[in-house]
Amino acid sequence: MTKDPQAKRKPENCAFVIFGVTGDLTHRLVMPSLYNLAAEHLLPEKFCVVGVARKSQSDDELRDSLMKGLRQFATRPIDDDTAKRLLECVTFVEADPKDPPSFDRLREHLDSLECAQETGGNRLFYLATPPAAFAPTARQLGRTGMMKENGAWRRLVIEKPFGTDLASAKALNAELLKIMEEHQIYRIDHYLGKETVQNILVLRFANGMFEPIWNRNHIDHVQITVEEKLGVGHRGGFYDATGALRDMVPNHLFQLMSLVAMEPPARFDAHSVRSEKAEVLTSIQLPSREDALKNSVRAQYLSGRIGDDNVPDYRKTEDVKRGSTTETFVALKLMIDNWRWAGVPFYLRTGKALGHKRTEVAIKFKQAPLSMFSGTDVDRLSQNFLTIGIAPTETIELQFNAKIPGPSITIDGVEMKFKYGDYFRADPSTGYETLIYDCMIGDNILFQRADGIEAGWQAVQPFLDAWKSAGTNGIETYEAGSDGPACADELLRRDGRSWRKFS
Ligand code: BG6
Repeated sequence: MTKDPQAKRKPENCAFVIFGVTGDLTHRLVMPSLYNLAAEHLLPEKFCVVGVARKSQSDDELRDSLMKGLRQFATRPIDDDTAKRLLECVTFVEADPKDPPSFDRLREHLDSLECAQETGGNRLFYLATPPAAFAPTARQLGRTGMMKENGAWRRLVIEKPFGTDLASAKALNAELLKIMEEHQIYRIDHYLGKETVQNILVLRFANGMFEPIWNRNHIDHVQITVEEKLGVGHRGGFYDATGALRDMVPNHLFQLMSLVAMEPPARFDAHSVRSEKAEVLTSIQLPSREDALKNSVRAQYLSGRIGDDNVPDYRKTEDVKRGSTTETFVALKLMIDNWRWAGVPFYLRTGKALGHKRTEVAIKFKQAPLSMFSGTDVDRLSQNFLTIGIAPTETIELQFNAKIPGPSITIDGVEMKFKYGDYFRADPSTGYETLIYDCMIGDNILFQRADGIEAGWQAVQPFLDAWKSAGTNGIETYEAGSDGPACADELLRRDGRSWRKFS
């Protein structure tokens, strides 16, 4: 995490190798981020990009397609000179982990490239491939000695999903750690590239006033909401095999949860911060089958209207099985077994094809113990929520009670709202620039460590198991464009609570 934008230094020279260079992730996020870094003079002095894919093409064909991608997905107007300089350093290599000699050729290509030599041997391998290629690609990188750090650094960047359950996540970590050291692995969760998410740490630990009340004595419960308007679009095949729980909870929602719930780290460095985050996830209570079913909600969307669009039933989406039981919405009640959070529920919910887009963490403080104002019961006082808004607007908002002007004491809930955009100007970005920059300077504070990944899967595994054993029992539905299934409201109502309304 960068403390001061002025203090940003240029990364050491390196070659940036992208596996899956023809894919969506490369065009939509990786290249536009490299472009933005180039525009801010934050790429290394000596830098080259080697694009790798299974289907052959020439360097020029690749450059053309990347240029088209930049024109389509850049977050700022393209400056032709900057784009030209970036694309000039791109070359293409055809390689497929199923064809081991192709990786020998990749190594030879890297060794022979003048610019790759000038980089002193530093290499960053970015896996922008489907997950099935992660381990086979890493194996080939290992076999050909490309991950060996002989005086130069070698790093592997890997995108989620890191496994599909606890066992597969452990297997993937074990496989990677046979080939390289933990410090060489940069597991990206794009939520950690979001400014407001990074700011949770600053809000908590750079201010003296929140930490004393950040515990079970003052906090009633925490709500983490990631609502999306989009359905599953063209990702039906991937999504149907994955579902909302696997797609969002052990990664994105748990990143938010761990930043909110972690203990203060001893130091602001990757080791301390990641240890505290893993620790809090390890402390999530593992429910019995009955409790897992009672404390979870899963639902699938039916047709409806979102804005001007008619959305079909999830089951009628391209590449989704007609009788699919995959959830497109999940809500969970989780408890953390430690001194700070004992007895404080964390309610998490996320879903697709809802009526609005909203990502937020809402911390609900306990009500005043009694009301001294006649005619206003404690129950009728507005709730004290501190809300960290991540999307659609980046905000921090405090709700409290105030006196309505006039001769009598009447009370109403009001809000104080800080909007990032009002204070700070930042060029529009993809959200990946900081992450890619951090990989190049070797700062892995914003990346996930193996133990954090496994702790996340460990916490969701009881729900996966309970759902599997329950079969189709308990799968609810909701209308596309709505606020989600009624049973999600029930999850809180039975505890005498309710979700924060969208405002
Ligand atoms: C991805 C999921 O990791 O995150 C998608 O696979 C989801 O299904 C996306 O839409 C949400 O990201 P954001 O940044 O829009 O909240």
